[in-house]
Amino acid sequence: MSKSAELKARKAAAVPGGVATKGIYVVKAENSELWDADGRRYIDFAAGIAVLNTGHRHPEVMAAVAKQAECFAHTCFHVAPYESYVRLAERLNSLAPGDFAKKTLFLSSGAEAVENAIKIARYYTKRSAVIAFSGGFHGRTLMTMALTGKVMPYKRGFGPFPAEVYHAQFPQPYRGITTEQSLADLDRLFHGDVDPKAVAAIVIEPVQGEGGFNVAPFEFLRALRRLCDEHGIVLIADEVQGGIARTGKMFSIEHAGVVPDLITVAKGLGGGFPLSGVTGRAAIMDAAHPGGLGGTYGGNPISIAAAHAVLDVIDSEGLCARAARVGQKMQSRLQSLAKEHPCIGDVRGLGAMVAFELVKNPATKEPDPELTTSILAHAEKRGLILLSCGTEANVVRLLAPLTIPDAVLEEGLNILSSALKDALGIESARAVA
Ligand SMILES: Cc1ncc(COP(=O)(O)O)c(C=O)c1O
Repeated sequence: MSKSAELKARKAAAVPGGVATKGIYVVKAENSELWDADGRRYIDFAAGIAVLNTGHRHPEVMAAVAKQAECFAHTCFHVAPYESYVRLAERLNSLAPGDFAKKTLFLSSGAEAVENAIKIARYYTKRSAVIAFSGGFHGRTLMTMALTGKVMPYKRGFGPFPAEVYHAQFPQPYRGITTEQSLADLDRLFHGDVDPKAVAAIVIEPVQGEGGFNVAPFEFLRALRRLCDEHGIVLIADEVQGGIARTGKMFSIEHAGVVPDLITVAKGLGGGFPLSGVTGRAAIMDAAHPGGLGGTYGGNPISIAAAHAVLDVIDSEGLCARAARVGQKMQSRLQSLAKEHPCIGDVRGLGAMVAFELVKNPATKEPDPELTTSILAHAEKRGLILLSCGTEANVVRLLAPLTIPDAVLEEGLNILSSALKDALGIESARAVA
C-alpha cells in the first residue's frame, strides 16, 4: 500500500466525510510545485485556493515569520496590541481605492471578514436586509452560507439560515444573463421583496470564485454603486478570492473604477498564514461600539508579519503585472484548445484568475460536470493540481501562484491539454508514461 493510500484510509477513519479532500498528501512545497508522501511531484494550479499568490514558502515571507516568532507569537490584539497590526491597517487603508479616510479590522478567515462586514454595515445603517447574488460564495459560517448562492456543496442540509438575505441574478453573458436583466432582477427585489430603504448592504464578488469565475461586467458594478448611493446602501466588495494582486490589480473591483464602501480580504494577504480583514470608510468602520468587533486570533502577529512581506513582494516583484502576463498565457492556450475542442464552451477570467467551462453541446450549453471531474483526475495522474468550480461543477479554474516560473507554467498547461485529451479519449501527442 502506498503511503498516500494509507493516509487516505486513516483520514477516512478519523476525519468527518464532510471535509472533502483530494488524495494528495503533501510533505513539501516550493513556489509552484509540491511533493506528496510517495515522492510524486505536482505542479500547483490551485495555490491553496488562491492563497499562495506569492507561491509556497516565499523566502521573504518565511523570513518575516521566523523573525516574528523570535519576538512573540500571540498576545491577542485586544489584550496587548502591537505596531505591526496598526501598520498593516495603514498600508491597506492607503492601498484600497477611495479618496477618503479608511480603517481596517483584522480577523482570521474569509468568512469571518464577510460576517464582520455585514455586522458593520448593519450597525452603521441601522438596517437589517442584505442582498447577495446567485452563484456567489462567501463562506461556510451561518450568515455567509445564507449569502452564498450555490446550494451544493455549501447549503444543502445546513439550514435554516439567517433571515433578511435576498439574492439577485449575477450577470452571466455566456448564459445569456445581461447586465440589464440583472438590474431588472434587483428592481424586482426592491418592488416585490424588500424595501431598498431597509437594505443595509449589497455584497458582491467582482469576480465570482466558487461560482465559476464569472467576471461582473464593469457597467454592472458601476450601476450597483449608483443604486447604493441612491438608497444609502453599503456596497461591500468581497475580494477574498479575487483580491491581493490575483487579477492584475491589488483589488479586482479597481478594474471597473468603482469604489466600494467596504472591502473584505483574506487568502492571498497572509501568504499561507490565516489572516483576513475588512477595510472601508472610516465613518462606517467606526460605527460599532468598543468590544463589538474583533476576536481572539484576529490579526495574529505571525500572520501580520507574513502579510507585510506579501505586500512587499507584490511590489518588489511586480506581481500585479505578472498576474496579467500569467493570465494572458493561460487564456491564449485555453482559447486555442477551445478551437480544437467544442466541449470548451467558454474561456473567461480576469488577470491570473482564469477558467474554462465544459459543455456537452456548444449549442445547448448543457453543463458537463462528468467531463470536468475526469479532466481533474487525469491532470492529477499526470502531476497537475486543478480545481473545479461553478454552480453546475462544470468549470475548471486555474489559480497558479503569480510567482510561477514561465517554464513550469508552460509544463502545467501542456499537462492540462493532455489531461483534456485523456478525458475525451483522444490519443495525446504529449502522453506521458
Ligand atoms: C469570495 C470568497 N469569500 C469568502 C470566502 C470564505 O473564505 P474562508 O474559506 O477563508 O472562510 C471564500 C473562500 O473561498 C471566497 O472565495
